[in-house]
Amino acid sequence: MEETAKKKESSIVLALDFPFHSPENREKLLAKAQDVLEAVHSYVCAVKINHHLVLPLGTFDGVQQLVTRIHEKGLCAIMDCKVNDIGATNQVIAEYYYAAGFDALIANPFIGWEEGLKPIFDIARKLQRGVILLAYMSHKGASEGYGQKIYDEETGAKTAQYLSFAKKALKWNADGVVVGATYPEKIREIHEILREKVPIYSPGIGVQGGAAETALKAGARYLIVGRDITLAPQPGEAAEKLCLAIKQAR
Ligand code: XMP
Repeated sequence: MEETAKKKESSIVLALDFPFHSPENREKLLAKAQDVLEAVHSYVCAVKINHHLVLPLGTFDGVQQLVTRIHEKGLCAIMDCKVNDIGATNQVIAEYYYAAGFDALIANPFIGWEEGLKPIFDIARKLQRGVILLAYMSHKGASEGYGQKIYDEETGAKTAQYLSFAKKALKWNADGVVVGATYPEKIREIHEILREKVPIYSPGIGVQGGAAETALKAGARYLIVGRDITLAPQPGEAAEKLCLAIKQAR
């Protein structure tokens, strides 16, 4: 991803999300996703897929076709499944998504390491794929979980949940953390801990209220952008415009 981002001079990760389509219209949805990918691929460094496509298109049907296309464009494919179950189940989830060709998946650190995330990291390392952890989500209610005050397991000092997750991302050697662009001050605090060792992926640009330049200045390395591009009348133009604006702001 780092190489692609440099080559394309873009830090945008396209979130290939679309509103609900009735199941009979699955073919239309797949065609739409392919069209947007075709129009946008030159302006992004990776593509993130979510349940918006996995549920209607199926992992080993439409989604795998898309992952193949994403790779043909020289881009990485990230699965935003926010894995959140017991380890044995997580392992199977990860095995299926990696088998479908995904280069990385997103997981929730709330489930912990032993019998939680460890099996995913083990599979990822074996297959040389990535695991990206949530650290502070972009929505308002994020403060109730990611923002709560906790006591640090090692020092006993009072700290914030998201700072503890940032430290765990370092300890577990995660390939990235997700911090909402809607909270630039949290990006800054988490970046203080991670520096350049673990990149920050920041969703919540545009529709959710976050600003690309602010998130980058605070320390985000990649910007996850969905509806601002996918729902634009001309997705290619919207992606190009955003890419240019980011370059100029840097
Ligand atoms: P929009 O349309 O708001 O889409 O640009 C954002 C995409 O990113 C996902 N999203 C998140 N994913 N942590 C994540 O892992 C977050 O805090 C977060 N906030 C938004 C969202 O599901 C959509 O695919």
